[in-house]
Amino acid sequence: MNKSSKKIKYYSFSLLLLILILYATFIYKLQEENELALATEVEKNSAERGSTFKPFDHSFEKGLKNLKKELIFDKMFQNILKPTKLEPFHFEMKGLFEPSDITLTTMITVDRFDILLNCMTIFDGLFSVALHIAEDSDLSENLEKLKIFISKNREFIETRLDIHLVVDKFPRQLNYLRNVARFFSRTDLILPLDVDFMINKSFIKHVKSNDFIFGKLLNGEAVFIIPAFEYHGVHINTTYESFPQEKKDVIKLFKEEKLMIFHGTDNKGHTSTNYTMWMNTTDPYRIEPNSFSYEPYAIFNKNTVPWSDERFIGYGGNKAAWWYEIYLAGLEFWVVPNDFLIHQYHKYDDSVRLKERHRNVKLFWNFLPEICNRYRVRLLEHKNEHIDLMGCRPGNNSRF
Ligand SMILES: *[C@@H]1O[C@H](CO)[C@@H](O)[C@H](O)[C@H]1NC(C)=O
Ligand SMILES: *[C@@H]1O[C@H](CO)[C@@H](O)[C@H](O)[C@H]1NC(C)=O
Ligand SMILES: *[C@@H]1O[C@H](CO)[C@@H](O)[C@H](O)[C@H]1NC(C)=O
Ligand SMILES: *[C@@H]1O[C@H](CO)[C@@H](O)[C@H](O)[C@H]1NC(C)=O
Ligand SMILES: *[C@@H]1O[C@H](CO)[C@@H](O)[C@H](O)[C@H]1NC(C)=O
Repeated sequence: MNKSSKKIKYYSFSLLLLILILYATFIYKLQEENELALATEVEKNSAERGSTFKPFDHSFEKGLKNLKKELIFDKMFQNILKPTKLEPFHFEMKGLFEPSDITLTTMITVDRFDILLNCMTIFDGLFSVALHIAEDSDLSENLEKLKIFISKNREFIETRLDIHLVVDKFPRQLNYLRNVARFFSRTDLILPLDVDFMINKSFIKHVKSNDFIFGKLLNGEAVFIIPAFEYHGVHINTTYESFPQEKKDVIKLFKEEKLMIFHGTDNKGHTSTNYTMWMNTTDPYRIEPNSFSYEPYAIFNKNTVPWSDERFIGYGGNKAAWWYEIYLAGLEFWVVPNDFLIHQYHKYDDSVRLKERHRNVKLFWNFLPEICNRYRVRLLEHKNEHIDLMGCRPGNNSRF
């Protein structure tokens, strides 16, 4: 091959390469311009329609809409026993509300409508209620009971109550029901509570008028615990007036040994609240749980507190497991200074409770190290802060 033909090859190759590069740049520019034009078009369209939807939001919502809701629920409540039928907003409230309102979230069965109604006369916020109906019961008869309850009390309940229906053959998937009531509550601030607790009629006012408490709740950094009491023996009268309404009356009844710490003084479920401190303070105070059995009642922001682990089914451990995770997740635990809860008397089916508790003990002891491991990164990062590693050391129960 001579020199000049080598040169020609070299030049034509370079020329080809140049053309290719130019072409690629051109295509790229064209595409960029197209995208820009499309985005401008979408924006112009939205502006004309007076809509503030951004293209991304739009496709996200459309995407969700295309999914069957059963599929979404199936993933949302991944760890529960199935099959289960969930119908959110089976009964839907009509009233107006403020985003800063407070919702009491709870779960009931069809034999508890009276107690729910009583609770609604006392707590004047919103209600998000998971109603469980056993699948093998007479479903139509139970739905009829619900219908009667609604029609008899419509005026009183329809501005504040949402009922979410859960139908399955598992009587106590308590953490599932808890999560359902919480998920579908309309406000950020929620108070998960059993309907058979007495709470002060002014509770919401107390919370909202205290800037420190309300501020911490709105930004989601703390839970505010309400000390819970119960009567020694039986207190059958369920009227609001038959319960003490002032803190000083509670302290008096406590000293007279008529009232006691909910679930007893030797039980670690509530003592971390420090009742001595509560009786002696007019300000909110911060506490550290001293037991992994701690399971207080508290108001919090539903966006920052971990969900209740749905593998706990039946009595025993379900709430304690949840509260242990809340603790590990780094939420601050505070106690409200002037409010209190008093449990109304009701009979428990002890045989069922014992059996289920026995079953859940094993789950609970496996859950503790598991959850510690899950939060380990967080705990190591924050080891100089309020949360320490002691309670999470495998095989070391000394802290708790
Ligand atoms: C319940 O307590 C209220 C208020 O103390 C009282 O008026 C009412 O008579 C009591 N009801 C019963 C059945 O004892
Ligand atoms: C509880 O509510 C009543 C009104 O029902 C009010 O008079 C009382 O002061 C409240 N108690 C506390 C401790 O705020
Ligand atoms: C409870 O509070 C009192 C102060 O009222 C304090 O002396 C005591 O150490 C506290 N208990 C715990 C377990 O923190
Ligand atoms: C109650 O508070 C007072 C004043 O702060 C304090 O002197 C007293 O020791 C406290 N009592 C208890 C039992 O904590
Ligand atoms: C458990 O923790 C305590 C500190 O609270 C420590 O002194 C002890 O050595 C630990 N035990 C084990 C087995 O890790």
